[in-house]
Amino acid sequence: MASGQSVVRTILFLLCLVSTAVSHSLIQLVSGDRKIRIDDDLYCDSWRLSVENNNAGYWSTVPSRCERFVQDYMNGERYSSDSEVVAEDSLAFVKTVEIAGDGRDVWVFDIDETLLSNLPYYEVHGFGSETYNETSWDSWVNLAEAPALPASLSLYKELEQLGFKIFLLTGRDEYQRNVTEKNLLSAGYTNWERLILRGTSDEGKPAIVYKSEKRAELQDEGYRIHGSSGDQWSDLLGFAVAKRSFKLPNPMYYIA
Ligand SMILES: *[C@@H]1O[C@H](CO)[C@@H](O)[C@H](O)[C@H]1NC(C)=O
Ligand SMILES: *[C@@H]1O[C@H](CO)[C@@H](O)[C@H](O)[C@H]1NC(C)=O
Ligand SMILES: [Mg+2]
Repeated sequence: MASGQSVVRTILFLLCLVSTAVSHSLIQLVSGDRKIRIDDDLYCDSWRLSVENNNAGYWSTVPSRCERFVQDYMNGERYSSDSEVVAEDSLAFVKTVEIAGDGRDVWVFDIDETLLSNLPYYEVHGFGSETYNETSWDSWVNLAEAPALPASLSLYKELEQLGFKIFLLTGRDEYQRNVTEKNLLSAGYTNWERLILRGTSDEGKPAIVYKSEKRAELQDEGYRIHGSSGDQWSDLLGFAVAKRSFKLPNPMYYIA
């Protein structure tokens, strides 16, 4: 028995030695580029965490060394998995909400990178490593071809079923109303209560102010904002905040 254990220990020890040697030699063997890639992945994962929890605060573009990382994240299973967990957490909260049945129970959704994914646009614009170009962005919006984020679409449907009034609050401009409605419908969204876009009086306001003011207006109308979903902290913070806010991942851009 005792000798059996020591044999196992010896084998484990040898395995450790071998795997250490293998991993060291791997590091030795990798070319300069591959080594950089390993270091970049580590750094960029930390960068992403800092961006997501808003420690980074304002940032303008994805660091060039992280473009590949963001591409892999957005196209891989991590992005959809992260989005699904956000939707699951939202739903767990939703189940605790008592619906009064007076039509005043509200959920607020942002649109871009929350209900709709603009990944097809960012695929050809460096995944956030290029500076924002209003001309090319507007052309993309006018196509009305952004697909739904699947996790958000199921959450949306569930909220609708449960009797929530759904308000859409977007930084898109009033002149984009028609294409935005068209895009939402073709992506599978229906029956929202109101679509709120930036009007002329909202021009120049930081998103966090504009969105807070619009939520305050809803509260003044007697709506109870139970939850809010957005990919930007400026969708969620400020004043007149929802009882619970849910932050979707977005390592491609930051809106103050
Ligand atoms: C912005 O996009 C437009 C249309 O795609 C292009 O013509 C223009 O050169 C771009 N501007 C910059 C600064 O890259
Ligand atoms: C938007 O759609 C409405 C009707 O659906 C139409 O009357 C209006 O002209 C459209 N506006 C624009 C800017 O296309
Ligand atoms: Mg957004």
